[in-house]
Amino acid sequence: MTQNVLITGGSGFIGKHLTDVLLEAGFSVSILSRATKENLPVITYYKWDLNKNFIDENAVLNADYIIHLAGEGIVEKRWSKKRKKAIVESRVKPIDLIFSVLEKHNKKLEAFVSASGIGIYGAITSHKICTEDMTPSDDFLGTTCQKWESAVDKIGALGIRTVKIRTGIVLGKNEGFLKKLVPSFKSGFGAILGLGKQYLPWIHIDDLCRIYLKSIEDQELEGPYNACITDNTTNGRFSKTLAKQFDYAIWLPKIPPFFLKLVLGEMSEVILTGQRASSEKIQKTGFEFQFTDLEKTLINCLK
Ligand SMILES: NC(=O)c1ccc[n+]([C@@H]2O[C@H](COP(=O)([O-])OP(=O)(O)OC[C@H]3O[C@@H](n4cnc5c(N)ncnc54)[C@H](OP(=O)(O)O)[C@@H]3O)[C@@H](O)[C@H]2O)c1
Repeated sequence: MTQNVLITGGSGFIGKHLTDVLLEAGFSVSILSRATKENLPVITYYKWDLNKNFIDENAVLNADYIIHLAGEGIVEKRWSKKRKKAIVESRVKPIDLIFSVLEKHNKKLEAFVSASGIGIYGAITSHKICTEDMTPSDDFLGTTCQKWESAVDKIGALGIRTVKIRTGIVLGKNEGFLKKLVPSFKSGFGAILGLGKQYLPWIHIDDLCRIYLKSIEDQELEGPYNACITDNTTNGRFSKTLAKQFDYAIWLPKIPPFFLKLVLGEMSEVILTGQRASSEKIQKTGFEFQFTDLEKTLINCLK
């Protein structure tokens, strides 16, 4: 019988790609959304309202696997106290709601897989290559990821296999990070943010979706996995490689750290710092990245 994968936040950037990958692999897909949406022949939509602690329980009861992607954009708005609360709650509360349905109905899942971030290792620029066994940071993104992952552990305590995908910056055509950057590069104005020496751990959307697919198909996967390429990409190298893809000269000034701090406040730490993370653990499971070269990846995303 066809197995069902429920994706929370499945209408976002990663969710849309993942839906196609899962359908292609023979799963049926359901999506939990805040919006009311008409079902499609191959996708069933369920509704939830976190503010009212409401979830359509059928979404969980009909699922064999759940992939949790929902969450407010990390860099969409300046990090006020209210915004920080929304960033954390929009990731943790959904898991608590799902947990309550699983517990109430004694429902078992084959696996619960959740997004998490490389940000768990902290807003620092370091040559050190972070591995999954490192102590999480106590800065805002570090504690956000810890709360997110601890909520996942509650589901694990129900005897359900759980996987946490600590994701780097996801590169895809006209989406996510590149959607924000490419328009200014196209008009001839790029930028190197801060000193440009901060590492930028990246992953192509296709590889990330294949990691999610493997997380549900391969029962050996459990716990946290870094999902990014372990190379020497810094913000400066990334901007220069992106600029090379256009036929005309692109102005690449360095935007000084003090200016970014002034405009973005604490959120500037996301772009002014960055460390390297090891992908060895996921590769040891047999996973092979298809996109390992930054320039080829950018060419793929821009074509
Ligand atoms: N993209 C990246 O580079 C990247 C890197 C590291 C980690 N991640 C993590 O991966 C996950 C998915 O990323 P993405 O790029 O696909 O994000 P996205 O495009 O912003 O999609 C996230 C989805 O979450 C739902 N959502 C937003 N705010 C919500 C709220 N307050 N309550 C409940 N649901 C909410 C929305 O779905 P509805 O409107 O349908 O409810 C939205 O489509 C996120 O948790 C993100 O932090 C992404």
